[in-house]
Amino acid sequence: MSDIKKIKDEFINKLKEDLDLNSVNQIKTDLFGKNGKISNEFKKLGSVSAEDRKKFASDLNLIKDELQIAISNKIKDIEIKEINLKLQNEKIDVTLPERSFFQGKIHPVSQVIDEISSIFSEIGFNVEEGPDVENEYNNFTALNTPDNHPARDMHDTFYLDVNKEYLLRTHTSPVQVRTMLKGKPPFKIIAPGRTYRSDSDQTHAPMFHQVEGLHIDKNINMGHLKGCLNYFIKEFFEVDKIKMRFRPSHFPFTEPSAEVDIGYKIKDEKIVIGEGDKWLEILGCGMVHPNVLRNVKVDPSKYQGYAFGIGIDRLAMLKYGINDLRSFFETDYRWLNHFGFDPLDVPSSYRGLSR
Ligand code: DAH
Repeated sequence: MSDIKKIKDEFINKLKEDLDLNSVNQIKTDLFGKNGKISNEFKKLGSVSAEDRKKFASDLNLIKDELQIAISNKIKDIEIKEINLKLQNEKIDVTLPERSFFQGKIHPVSQVIDEISSIFSEIGFNVEEGPDVENEYNNFTALNTPDNHPARDMHDTFYLDVNKEYLLRTHTSPVQVRTMLKGKPPFKIIAPGRTYRSDSDQTHAPMFHQVEGLHIDKNINMGHLKGCLNYFIKEFFEVDKIKMRFRPSHFPFTEPSAEVDIGYKIKDEKIVIGEGDKWLEILGCGMVHPNVLRNVKVDPSKYQGYAFGIGIDRLAMLKYGINDLRSFFETDYRWLNHFGFDPLDVPSSYRGLSR
């Protein structure tokens, strides 16, 4: 058998094997590349005797064509195989039921922070924020808290270093300090956020939420404070009438200071706000102490005003009938699904599918 026939048979057989595209390309190079076997045969043409040359050339061309056709058929085969495999694996079964739709819920604390922010925004309060990690000065000293005050005690405060310079803020009141230090009066802000104390039982968690309020201007007095809180509580609980009492109290950063209770009664095992003869404490407040104003470079002979601090979790528990504070922070999806709020008004056909 001639050399070229041998080459042909060898490669036609090779192409019958189960090959991938890379191997076919390799065959192509082996045959037709610069030093390919067929290319080399063509190079021999010049040395073939004149009488054999014509036949050799025509045989060689035939074999070249045959091999090229075999190669391109093989490539087509491989491509078709690949497409079929893809079609099989990526087949869409249109008869399958749709995937269930899991809708997230808004946590009651986030919901209540939104409600509080929008109520106070309507009467001109801006929303401010401060960091959870505070320094001792903003959290205590600037707020006129004496060195020996029990709130500074290790048992109540989470200190972050041995020198007690940094701590997890024990209340949102340091945002008063931050706001007044960076701006000029008048100030009319609320500051909702996380707060921390070493405490844990049915009504206390080591992390909880407060909203601070501060209104400083030239003639702000306790009447304004009362009016503002009265308005807020009515709006928040969505009632027309509210029973509210101011009890004298003490906070280092206010003088005079008061705690505010609201009247309620229990009806059909539910709390009704604004009626009845029971009292529930919901916030601390007072007129900002002149020492605090001095500490933040506000002249107390020109400016005065009120501040308040409200426990947000307590408000959420009251409004939405939740009786264990700890459940707020257990990240139990079933609980959130029950007490949480829909972020959007989703179509009712989806609602049944949410977990
Ligand atoms: N910071 C106080 C607390 O955590 C609450 C409070 C009381 C805030 C009176 C105030 C205030 O701004 O005027 O118990």
